[in-house]
Amino acid sequence: MSWIDVADLNDIPLPGARVVKTHFGDIGLFRTGEAQVFATSNACTQDGGPLSEGIVHGTRVACPIDNSVFDLETGALLGTGEGHLQTYPVRLDGTRVLLERESVLARGAA
Ligand code: FES
Repeated sequence: MSWIDVADLNDIPLPGARVVKTHFGDIGLFRTGEAQVFATSNACTQDGGPLSEGIVHGTRVACPIDNSVFDLETGALLGTGEGHLQTYPVRLDGTRVLLERESVLARGAA
């Protein structure tokens, strides 16, 4: 398993998020704890809202457009509606935030 260094932990607000731009689309990094980060596709499944601009609370994020709430651990849309965010394995190396390379590349192949 190989990893891609994408950000510094200290550049992500706590709680909060930032976006990483890739050749395969934007990925949201969500910091929910001192050393806890989740990564998902950044586009809301409802109408494409930028989730990294949403409100992070607990291990959830609320879309800034219409407030749909997603579980950051599973990518599941909570409440009514359908949709599931792509999630990516995250690893911390000190303060560096790493994404699993294969899962990011797989997104490009999808
Ligand atoms: S775009 Fe996210 S809830 Fe509408």
